[in-house]
Amino acid sequence: MNSPAHDRTRALGTRLGGLGFGGDYNPEQWDKATRAEDLRLMNEAGVNLVNLAIFAWARVEPARDTYDFGFFDTVMDDLAAHGITADLATMTASPPPWLVAEHPGILPVTASGGILSPGGRQHFCPSSPVFRDRAVRLVEAVATHYRDHPALGLWHVGNEYGIHVTECFCDISAADFRRWLADRYGDVDALNDAWSTDFWSQRYTSFDQILPPRAAPTYPNPSQQLDFKRFSSDALRTCFALERDVLRRITPDTPVTTNFLAGHKSVDVRAWAPEMDVLALDSYPDPHDEAAHIEAALSYDLLRGAAGGRPWLLTEQAPSAVNWRGRNAGKAPGRMRLWSWQAVAQGADAVMYFQWRQSRGGAEKFHSGMVPHAGPGTRVHAEVRELGRELALVPELAGTRIRNEVAVVFDWENWWAIELDSHPSDGVRCIDRVLDHYAPLFEAGVGIDLVHPSADLSPYKCVVLPSHYLLSAENADRISRFVADGGSLLASFFTGIVDEHDRVHTGGYPAPLSEVLGVRVEEFWPAAVDEEVPLRAAEAGAPAPAPASLWREDLKLTGARPELFFAGPDWDEDRPAATVHAHGAGAARYVATRPDPVTMRAIVDRALADAGVAPVLPGLPAGIQATIRHGADHDVLILLNHTGHTHEVTLPAERRNLLDGQRPAVRHLTLEPRGVAVLGSAGL
Ligand code: GLA
Repeated sequence: MNSPAHDRTRALGTRLGGLGFGGDYNPEQWDKATRAEDLRLMNEAGVNLVNLAIFAWARVEPARDTYDFGFFDTVMDDLAAHGITADLATMTASPPPWLVAEHPGILPVTASGGILSPGGRQHFCPSSPVFRDRAVRLVEAVATHYRDHPALGLWHVGNEYGIHVTECFCDISAADFRRWLADRYGDVDALNDAWSTDFWSQRYTSFDQILPPRAAPTYPNPSQQLDFKRFSSDALRTCFALERDVLRRITPDTPVTTNFLAGHKSVDVRAWAPEMDVLALDSYPDPHDEAAHIEAALSYDLLRGAAGGRPWLLTEQAPSAVNWRGRNAGKAPGRMRLWSWQAVAQGADAVMYFQWRQSRGGAEKFHSGMVPHAGPGTRVHAEVRELGRELALVPELAGTRIRNEVAVVFDWENWWAIELDSHPSDGVRCIDRVLDHYAPLFEAGVGIDLVHPSADLSPYKCVVLPSHYLLSAENADRISRFVADGGSLLASFFTGIVDEHDRVHTGGYPAPLSEVLGVRVEEFWPAAVDEEVPLRAAEAGAPAPAPASLWREDLKLTGARPELFFAGPDWDEDRPAATVHAHGAGAARYVATRPDPVTMRAIVDRALADAGVAPVLPGLPAGIQATIRHGADHDVLILLNHTGHTHEVTLPAERRNLLDGQRPAVRHLTLEPRGVAVLGSAGL
């Protein structure tokens, strides 16, 4: 049965008639003649969806309770007349100067008590009742005004919540945090227990005594820090939900989204997902980074996982360079197309950009646009048009889904907890550790889902736990049962160390997974920066792997068989470094260090072989990504050449080349550098 969220999102898909294509449109920055040219160029480029009025609060409400919709009425009418759907913003992303002048108390405060001034954007305390009230009133006015407008197809709430202000430490936030804690723990002794407050004399006798983890003489209580991160994500989510509730009341059939930034730590997307109709992501891989597409792939799988596998929207990417890195690389010819199709290959139903027309002034004037400063007669604009034409050739992709057999476990709470201070090594960073596992899986050509540790693991054959420090006993049990039932598990060091309150599972690490892994860790011995950790193979005569790095530990076998040993220093010889353990009908592997990429790939390949997981398309050259999107009675194979070389590919059977309007049958194809192939099953 479909949920109302499904129905609303399907209505958007029907309205768009296929994949969405467009970008942030900021017509308020341009004169009438330019806006007229915009509409013509959008039609020519195949734009069918724009994110509108994201930073328009100051223009639409120039004084308290005085609304002026004149400008956007014309823009909305023009969009409707040109067949373009508006993803209309609630306009609350940047409070106007008059509001700050009237209520300076809405400004956010840092951990050391500094006030963040207006002059940029996102300068609001998420817990501020004044901000929330003014935002809700604005949304009420906007939604009432545009409820029946033919251009309205989607609501865009806020913008990239938490990217600039991830936490506010002011007195209002402190009071809100105390309320949140009282809800979570009920009585203060439960909090004392969860936060281990007998350490350093921190025992509270009332919730009233509790503060946010403001700058302190030394490490603030880690459980308090963790709860403050949970609270801060929830406070922003409340801002979103307050606006969303207004929209649901006034426009019950219009879907609601907000755009997340890929790789952003402070907002727990998985916890937000049930509040939204469709998930949306902004993605800015760095063209200077040769492995950028792998990190992007991780973020797409992660967002799709949070969406429960449903299609999502790429709401922003750069047409070429961004402006906010130290050195801002442009995208080589074909790269924007390749990376756009990559998002579609990994489940996106829309490809959009920041922004339509490159700004003349303001902080982002050197950020590329779909229409660059040099105008429409440019390489970037030509590539934009060509992509718009191509995306329109494959409307059947919209709404299709991806099925994978490998799950990598990911949880924002673990991300927050593993990167807290006073740990054995500050080199253990969450996304790096996930990438150490995700990259070899990606290179092995298997499809990957990112799942929460509480997820149903039954659809998967292989589950990967990359240094998953925070793991509740209950979720560890679920993972153990997955192995007992025949699954293949690969877990790495510093996994299963603490519970949800950041309290250690005692009895030898990783206590709740010790039985399934057949190992027990007595001590961590993190490596120094740049220290090499020599390894040797367990098999006599096998060549020694390249040295590992970052970590070693004192690993005792309680049933597992060693596959690699540490090979020094002298007192550390013959301690196992990687193991495998038969458990029930399955197998569990453990890696007690950070192997080099070649060794890690070999370990990953063994875990995949244990599970009988095959690549999406066997036999592809390295650097070619393959995914399949499945519809009810068809599927579409997408091949992406991430290399700078031409590759010939032979398919197991003929498919339809969907990027050729005639849809000819093909079996052999040539993928140019950064080339893309979109291949339909018979019947398409
Ligand atoms: C983010 C924001 C946009 C813009 C772009 C620039 O994604 O949502 O408003 O600032 O970054 O890359």
